[in-house]
This record gives sequence, structure tokens and C-alpha cells, in this order.
Amino acid sequence: MPEGNAAPPAEVRAMFDRISPVYDLMNQLISGFQEPRWRRRAVREARLGPGMAALDVACGTGKVAAALARAVGPSGRVVGLDFAPGMIDRAQRERTAAPGLSFVVGDALSLPFEDGAFDASTIAFGMRNLPDYARGFAEMSRVVRPGGRVVCLEISRPRSALGRAIQRWFDWIVPVIGRAAGQGDAYAYLVASTRGYPGPERIAAIMREVGLEDVRWTPLSGGIVTLHAGTKPTGWTRPA
Ligand SMILES: C[S@@+](CC[C@H](N)C(=O)[O-])C[C@H]1O[C@@H](n2cnc3c(N)ncnc32)[C@H](O)[C@@H]1O
Repeated sequence: MPEGNAAPPAEVRAMFDRISPVYDLMNQLISGFQEPRWRRRAVREARLGPGMAALDVACGTGKVAAALARAVGPSGRVVGLDFAPGMIDRAQRERTAAPGLSFVVGDALSLPFEDGAFDASTIAFGMRNLPDYARGFAEMSRVVRPGGRVVCLEISRPRSALGRAIQRWFDWIVPVIGRAAGQGDAYAYLVASTRGYPGPERIAAIMREVGLEDVRWTPLSGGIVTLHAGTKPTGWTRPA
């Protein structure tokens, strides 16, 4: 049994499809309007420059992909991938202004791209939804070039007193906001999926197990969110 989210992927996809119209607004409320800052940090860790190529996995409505597109400029290329067509539909409608930015429906566990096709791959608040974390990281590693970056931004269980206080608020407010928006089940899932997600040391270990090097992690906002990043070495081979 792989280490990953136990919820059936078809149910997860249907749930994200259903909440796609309210997703951006809910995210801002739930994060206390912190999410733009977290996303900027993730994009910085991708170490992109003009003309480079990047992939954002589990892109949702495309916020990180749009920020990556700004980092690579008009001569660069960014693809956002998500398995929920409702999310891709919103991304396509709302973020098509940037040249070189496109969105595609696809599965994070079987990315439809050649080995080494990108300079960096990112995933924001998507990894905890995958049924196999190692395979998710292995696929993100496979599609970046040697020397390229793999970046993961995800909700985590904080250890500091301040972080734990924020976490209690989060655990309480998320289902309340979810019910108010008529999406109680979906936001109860959000809380449950964060509880099952491994701590930062284990995520870093999985990243090393799939062959990434120079793996570092940084707690943000008291540790309610953690940013992991690693580099694909020369001679990387896909784990068996
Ligand atoms: C919490 S949302 C995050 C969206 C976006 N990255 C953001 O930062 O707002 C999680 C996303 O992961 C997507 N997802 C979950 N499992 C996936 C999979 N196996 N392949 C592709 N996308 C997946 C969902 O459809 C959803 O859009």
C-alpha cells in the first residue's frame, strides 16, 4: 500500500470539480489572506528566469502557474495541470492573458510530458491529495532537467505555540466557512487530508528517496504551511 491519501481519487476529483467556482474566495478566507505570500515564496524556490519552462502540478484555478509565467516572461513556457476539468476550465477562462501559459487536464501520478521537459516543477496544496506521495514526487522529478527544481508547498501541522493556535482556528473555521458556502463535506475533507499528511522530515525523506538532492524545507506562518524544495541531480534515475 503506497504512502498517500486514502480517499478514492474519483471522489477527490468530483469534490474539487464541485468547489471550483468558490475555490479562490474560500482559499483567501481560510488562509487569512496569507496565500499570495506563500505562493510567491514557492515561485522563488523554483529559481526560474526569462525564457525558462515550468510545470505546475495540481494547478487548480492556476494562481501559481500564472506567477510562474510572470517569472519566465513572454519568451518562457508554463503548463498548469490538474485532474479536475472544472478547475482547468476556470484557469483557462481567468488566466489566459500571459503568453506561453497553458492548462491541461491530466493526472499528477502519470504526467503526460517527456523526461526533462521543464526547468522546474511545482505543486501547491496538491501533494496531500495524492494517493502515492513518492510517485507524485518521482513524476515531478522525471519531467525536470538535471539541475532543475522540484518545489512543494503544503499545509502542515505546526509545532510552535503560535502555529498550533492558528491551527486550532483553521480546524474550526474551515468547516464553518465550508458549510456557509454549502460545501460542508468538501471542507471537512480538507481538514481530514491535512491530518493524514506526513510531517516535514518525512516529506523531505520521500523527496530524497526519489533521488532529489539538496532537499530543504522552510516552515511559513508559524508552520501551518511548509515549503519543500530539492534539485534533480545529473544521472537521476526513476525509482523502481
Ligand atoms: C487544494 S487544491 C490546490 C490548487 C492550486 N494548486 C492552488 O494552489 O490553489 C488541490 C488540487 O489538486 C488537484 N488534484 C488532486 N489530485 C490530483 C491528481 N492525482 N492529479 C492532478 N490533480 C490533482 C485537485 O483537482 C485540486 O485542484
